[in-house]
Amino acid sequence: MKILILGNGGREYSIARAILNEEKGHELFFQPGNGATNTLGTNLDIKDYNELAAFAKQNAIELTIVGPEAPLVDGVVDIFKSHGLVVFGPSKEAAQLEGSKVYMKNFLAKYNIPTARYIETASIEDAFKFTNTLTAPIVVKADGLCGGKGVIIAMSHDEAKVAISEMLSGKSFGDAGKKVIVEEFLDGYELSMFAVCDGEDYILLPAAQDHKRLLDNDQGPNTGGMGAYAPTPLVDEELYQKVRDRVIRPTLDGMQKEGAPFEGVLFIGIMVVKGEPITLEFNVRFGDPECEILMPLMTSSVSDMFYKAATNRLAEIKVEFSSQYAVGVVMASENYPYKNSTPAEIIVDDVHHEEIENFTHISYAGVSMEDDKLYADGGRVLVCVGLGDTIKQARDRAYLRCGQVHFAGKKLRTDIAYQALA
Ligand code: AMP
Ligand code: GLY
Repeated sequence: MKILILGNGGREYSIARAILNEEKGHELFFQPGNGATNTLGTNLDIKDYNELAAFAKQNAIELTIVGPEAPLVDGVVDIFKSHGLVVFGPSKEAAQLEGSKVYMKNFLAKYNIPTARYIETASIEDAFKFTNTLTAPIVVKADGLCGGKGVIIAMSHDEAKVAISEMLSGKSFGDAGKKVIVEEFLDGYELSMFAVCDGEDYILLPAAQDHKRLLDNDQGPNTGGMGAYAPTPLVDEELYQKVRDRVIRPTLDGMQKEGAPFEGVLFIGIMVVKGEPITLEFNVRFGDPECEILMPLMTSSVSDMFYKAATNRLAEIKVEFSSQYAVGVVMASENYPYKNSTPAEIIVDDVHHEEIENFTHISYAGVSMEDDKLYADGGRVLVCVGLGDTIKQARDRAYLRCGQVHFAGKKLRTDIAYQALA
């Protein structure tokens, strides 16, 4: 199949890698891709979505997979569909589940899906009044997309009020902060759950845990994610069933009632509080680095799953997963997540070790290629993935692989999957 993948991260690299590992021959295109995806297919440079759709038609692209949220919120799926193309991802309207936290919270409330107690408002008085009813810590969120920075966990009422004032005045996030959510802090453990949806049916993938903080022991600033593992033993059948019954089913039914059936990846950020799954947020795409560890766990066809989801035929297939565990360790650039870093050449040692050869791989993200040399280009550079029969084995293998990757300023956490190994 000819497949176009939108995005430039490790997430998109891992989807491509999984598709190429299938038996059938596939031809891949990336918009824009990164310095390593051009070894898996062809990188394009067509920014306008209508032009990109025209390219897809001319080149008989049979399936387009959209990785990141920004093009989804911009409506790329609607544009591709209007050209008669098969595309995997939510419509612009359905993408509001991520694009607007106010839309998401009001949706959760309307369909009785458990979430943190909250107020959504543009009024500073109302926000302050609600804040006074909560005990610290207090969570303050900007409405719109802020690249993962729009959530403040305030340790006092005063700190919460400063965050509210700065958001509502447009000072911290411009228009994205013109409305805010103030909500109660949930104390529990966090999970990333992913449902691949076709509007009506869905496939629930193994539950993962991300590591959002930059440093070991969950210290330092929030990042896009420094590592992940799956499946997590912190989820049993009962919890999966609760998520199915209380979150995913009502969401798919609710979005149908709203006239915006949800197709694509529903990423549910869950806080488990006293055994009960509470929805923190939705994203409308795969998590990164969660995608990098879920793709290698799929033993049935990945391209077929996306194709069937994009053509509303998920009910026809059975998706299968390996009985192994996967652990992914992110290697980031020196100045991540604060600012850009100087490009640094990446040297990956040759593999002469059967265990590393057979049970690890690298998904490339923030890299560029020049004169056949690979450079770390800032941000999250790559993810070393290890597979194993236990989480510990998968973790040890991922770190073995990390030991073979060298670039100036490389940064990584040494405690990925600690929750499961405690
Ligand atoms: P979000 O962008 O909504 O996922 O928020 C980013 C992170 O902030 C989440 O992954 C949680 O770790 C944390 N967070 C968000 N909302 C809450 C809450 N109500 N209680 C506790 N932690 C939260
Ligand atoms: N790793 C979390 C995210 O992709 O938002």
